[in-house]
Amino acid sequence: MAIISPSILSADFANIQRDVDMINRSEADWFHIDIMDGVFVPNLSFGFPVIKAIKRHATKPMDVHLMIVDPDRYISEFKKSGADLLTVHYEACNHLHRTIQAIKAEGMKAGVSLNPHTPIHLLKDIIGDLDLVLLMSVNPGFGGQKFIEQTYTKTAELRKLIDENNSKAIIEIDGGVNLETGKKLLESGADALVAGSFVFGSSDPEKTIGDLKSL
Ligand code: DX5
Ligand code: ZN
Repeated sequence: MAIISPSILSADFANIQRDVDMINRSEADWFHIDIMDGVFVPNLSFGFPVIKAIKRHATKPMDVHLMIVDPDRYISEFKKSGADLLTVHYEACNHLHRTIQAIKAEGMKAGVSLNPHTPIHLLKDIIGDLDLVLLMSVNPGFGGQKFIEQTYTKTAELRKLIDENNSKAIIEIDGGVNLETGKKLLESGADALVAGSFVFGSSDPEKTIGDLKSL
């Protein structure tokens, strides 16, 4: 069964506790928390006070996706704010191996995300150290974008790399996930699906999470 991680980016920030409670009640597995710095991506999202507020109410693990340059500066602050799994972008790290070790040393699971243009083979020498790989199926920065079809073959290629290296890494996909793309992604080898606008833009978000869970 797929891991479902609803993206808080599409939640109603004036009713954040209501939306957090909905995710707690639902069949979702994680909370997906998108952090944007306006430099790595052309958008800003939110910071530590908001993450801490979500953590106070969340009863499920916090899956934090950093779309920021030089993430090493904030690793311990994200741990203190409640991150359970911390994902950094391959394109934002000059010393990725060091960054991954630093995340683990803080007691968090470590993930690496690839932009749509970044090839899978670049992960070859780090795949054994990763708990998760997050494939972007849109260009990061905004919710509600169109799914990039190339992600299916990329997912299958990543599955092969993970299996060949006996890595325990989970494959998570982020961007444009709905029932149709989600089903094909699971068939291609994905383990976890992030969904923002598809969940929060639906008339019954809790049921939509259940629908994704039963794919
Ligand atoms: C985009 C974020 C996503 C976003 C997904 O940069 O990383 O997590 O919330 O939104 P949807 O599901 O609407 O494409
Ligand atoms: Zn994300």
